[in-house]
Amino acid sequence: MDVVHSVDRMREISSSHRRAGETVALVPTMGALHAGHLALVRRAGSVASRVVVSIFVNPSQFGPEEDLASYPRDLQSDLAALEPLGVDHVFNPDASEVYPQGYQTRVRVTEVENHLCGLSRPVHFSGVATVVLKLFNMCLPDYAIFGMKDYQQVRVIERMVQDLNVGVEIVRHPTVRESDGLAMSSRNRYLTSDQRKRAPAIYATLKRLKNDVMTGLRDAAVILERGRRELTEAGLDLEYLNVCDAGTLDDVARVEDTVLIAAAVRLGAARLIDNVLVNPFEEEDA
Ligand code: PAF
Repeated sequence: MDVVHSVDRMREISSSHRRAGETVALVPTMGALHAGHLALVRRAGSVASRVVVSIFVNPSQFGPEEDLASYPRDLQSDLAALEPLGVDHVFNPDASEVYPQGYQTRVRVTEVENHLCGLSRPVHFSGVATVVLKLFNMCLPDYAIFGMKDYQQVRVIERMVQDLNVGVEIVRHPTVRESDGLAMSSRNRYLTSDQRKRAPAIYATLKRLKNDVMTGLRDAAVILERGRRELTEAGLDLEYLNVCDAGTLDDVARVEDTVLIAAAVRLGAARLIDNVLVNPFEEEDA
C-alpha cells in the first residue's frame, strides 16, 4: 500500500491502471477511520480491481463555527487500519495543492443541498460537492463508494454526477452500526459515556417510525409527532426530523412512494445524523 501525496502522481497511477485494463474504486474519507469506513473499503475491493482511499480533511465543507480545527486526525492509525484490507493506494494530498492560492471555484447542487442538514450548514454541501469532484479528477476512479448514513451527501453527489456528466459510478453502501444500533461516525468519539447511552434512541425511533409506515401509517404529520415525542423523551435535543422524498428530499405530507425519514440531534459536542429509507409499496428498503 503506497501513500501518495502529489496530485500529478495520483493521476499518473490511476491512468496507468486504467490503460492496463484495470478498474479503480475510490473511497473518499476525511480519516479518523472506523469500521464503517472499512466496510466501504471492502466494498470497493469487491467492485474494482484497484482500491484508492483518499484521506483529506476538507476545509471547505466546515462552517466557521464547526469542528475543523478539532476534527480527529491520525494518519498513522488510519494507515494501520487500511494495511490489512488490500488497499492499493492511500491518497493524502496537501490542502495547499487541493486549494491553491487564488482558488475561487465552487460546485453547488442548489436544490438537494437546500434541505435537512443543508439548512443549518449552509456551506457544507457545496464544500462536499467541490472536493468530491476534485477528488474524482485527481484519482480518476470508475467507482466511488459512499455510506448511506450521509444520505443527503449521497444524493448531492449522485445529482452532481448526473448533472455534470461525470463518468464515475456512485455505489451506495448501507449504514454500518454499533451493536446497539448507533450509526458509526467519527464524531461519536465526542460523546461522553452518558450521552453515548442515550444516542441509540435515534435509530430505535427511526426503526419504529419505519415500522409504523410499513404497517399502514401514511400521514407525515402523525409520523413526525410520534418521532419528535420519542426523541424528546429520550433526552435528545432534536435539530430536525423530516419525512421527505427519497430523490429530491422535498418534504412530503403523505407517504406515497419511497421516503427518507431523517433526523439530526445535538448531544453535547456532537451533532449526530441518521436515517431510514422506507418504501411500503415494495418489500425493499435500506
Ligand atoms: O463523508 C466524508 O467523509 C466527506 O464528506 C467526504 C465525502 C470525504 C468529502 O470530504
